[in-house]
Amino acid sequence: MAHRWKNTLRDKDVTDEAAFLNRRQLMAGAAAGMGLAGVGAAQARAQELEPTSYEDVTTYNNYYEFGTGKGDPVDHAHMLTTQPWTVKIDGLVDRPGDYAFEDIMARMTVEERIYRFRCVEAWSMVVPWNGFELADLLDMAGVQSNAKYVAFETALRPDEMPGVKYPVLDWPYVEGLRLDEATHPLTLMATGIYGKEVPNQNGAPLRLVVPWKYGFKSIKSIVRITLTEAEPPTSWNKANAREYGFYSNVNPEVDHPRWSQASERVIGSGLFARRQDTLMFNGYADEVASLYEGMDLTKFF
Ligand code: MTE
Repeated sequence: MAHRWKNTLRDKDVTDEAAFLNRRQLMAGAAAGMGLAGVGAAQARAQELEPTSYEDVTTYNNYYEFGTGKGDPVDHAHMLTTQPWTVKIDGLVDRPGDYAFEDIMARMTVEERIYRFRCVEAWSMVVPWNGFELADLLDMAGVQSNAKYVAFETALRPDEMPGVKYPVLDWPYVEGLRLDEATHPLTLMATGIYGKEVPNQNGAPLRLVVPWKYGFKSIKSIVRITLTEAEPPTSWNKANAREYGFYSNVNPEVDHPRWSQASERVIGSGLFARRQDTLMFNGYADEVASLYEGMDLTKFF
């Protein structure tokens, strides 16, 4: 990848929204003059998107460990202790271990990625994330040749997470990806939003972002990553396998059993919220469709 907009996130570099939007105009000009491929092409297209405000991204959340209301995470997630934080990386890796968050950050290159974000509930945002490619973290641990999947787990802290006393899901929240999805260059471990650290309600200190899949695949506050040979269980699939598949790629042609997925409500578009057509793979088909060649996407939904 020749062109990456690097933006190493440090505590002192806090970008406010206005500065962010100004810098975007410069980048849009630069991107127009370059023939970008891969992630670069997705980022060049992102320049045409209207980013959702920081306020909306950080106050309208799904994080059921803090309650099922959209405002519960911002009200309660301050209770989550995010320092110190360690991520256990285990299973089929050469260098399993408990990795301190700071040690991970010291070894990763943080970049800015502006991605569409589409929730299975049929709403969407555009989020300027900061983060590093999951592939780089997996390289650090050394993936063994028999690994086929990556399993993820969120922290489970009953004392800090008021929502886990309700059996809405089988806690801890778990998710998974096929290894080729996990190592795709668009797959991000996000550590920031708008150049600031990821707020607790959005999954501090690090959460997955898989922009071509429904938002529930983007698991928050990760404490464990396990390389496996078998497809790992995932929380929403365990809760209702008929409604939520392992793949959960955004697909306007495959409706949720209880609602259409053909269009989405744009968060932050005002009182009479604007709707827009949902795009195949959430607009990332050029980058990811080849991962699913030959698969029946109505069966592997
Ligand atoms: N991760 C955990 N641990 N718990 C959750 O409830 N909700 C998922 C996903 N990751 C969730 C989670 C869902 S349904 C969505 S849409 C996104 O997080 C929401 O991310 P956001 O609040 O940053 O927009």
